[in-house]
Amino acid sequence: MPAISASAPGKIILFGEHAVVYGHPAIAVPINQVKARAYVMASPTSPQGQVQIDAPDIGLLSNYEDLPAGHPLAILLSILPKQLGMNTFPALRLKIKSEIPIAAGMGSGTAVSVAIIRALSTFLGLSLPDKQISEIAYEVEKSYHGTPSGIDNTVIAYAQPIFFMRDQPFVGLKIAGPFSIIIADSGKRTQTAEVVAQVRNKRAKNKTFFDGIFQRIAKITLKARSIIESDTAVKLGPLMNNNHEELQRLGVSCPELDNLVNAALDAGAFGAKLSGGGQGGNIIAFVNVDQAEDIRKKLSSAGATNTLVTQIS
Ligand code: PMV
Repeated sequence: MPAISASAPGKIILFGEHAVVYGHPAIAVPINQVKARAYVMASPTSPQGQVQIDAPDIGLLSNYEDLPAGHPLAILLSILPKQLGMNTFPALRLKIKSEIPIAAGMGSGTAVSVAIIRALSTFLGLSLPDKQISEIAYEVEKSYHGTPSGIDNTVIAYAQPIFFMRDQPFVGLKIAGPFSIIIADSGKRTQTAEVVAQVRNKRAKNKTFFDGIFQRIAKITLKARSIIESDTAVKLGPLMNNNHEELQRLGVSCPELDNLVNAALDAGAFGAKLSGGGQGGNIIAFVNVDQAEDIRKKLSSAGATNTLVTQIS
């Protein structure tokens, strides 16, 4: 029997990370050049309920029940049967491949969840709406990420640009004029859950200061939304820089990210900021398409371990 496959894109947050955890708006877009893919095959010779997982990118070859408790795949596969209205799965082989850099703020884990949910539900003859796929992926995020806002599962499951506020229906964003972004990886890694927890602890000690930052980020995000929807994208540059400064005040940047932001600006980017949880992962730089290749090379020379030029449209 041939494999059933499904994919899900990576994502970046353009504006509003961290503030979004506290109920403020954020803007995120899917990145279709990088995808996670899941392939599901029947395994007729294995016992009912056995799910063999093969994820070569992370060196994982294991039966589902042998995964450590708390592993995101174990969490997903334990909640999925109930969500799909069944007691247990038939015997399966699940292969997972992903081009999305891990823990870099591009939604790799969430994209893997979404691809698996889509592939498994299709394999079982169910066609789940994006809303349900997003909700299941959110359940997985909550169990290992602490207090996720829900932005990652929403932008990845719906695979469209979104204006997002926690616990509210998202708004699909119309990009009036396409614009170019370079995503540059610092190579440094810190788990988003760790950075979100640090911010939470610091805010508990100085609420006025931190809520002031979040309110300023919210204003930047609202301005960015109206610019994105009105075809004057060039004005996004200063807003990105302001957003990065607020994230520095929040304590979620680091020398590696600041170095890449400065390198992008020196090379002629209109604006640049860290994207995602921070303290590692990616920066994004908003650039003129004609300069993109030159700025991309300069970011590599400045230490970016991986770069990607993408058009937001
Ligand atoms: O998953 P990341 O690293 O792109 O970060 C998510 C953005 C945060 O606002 C920091 C956390 C959240 O759940 O919204």
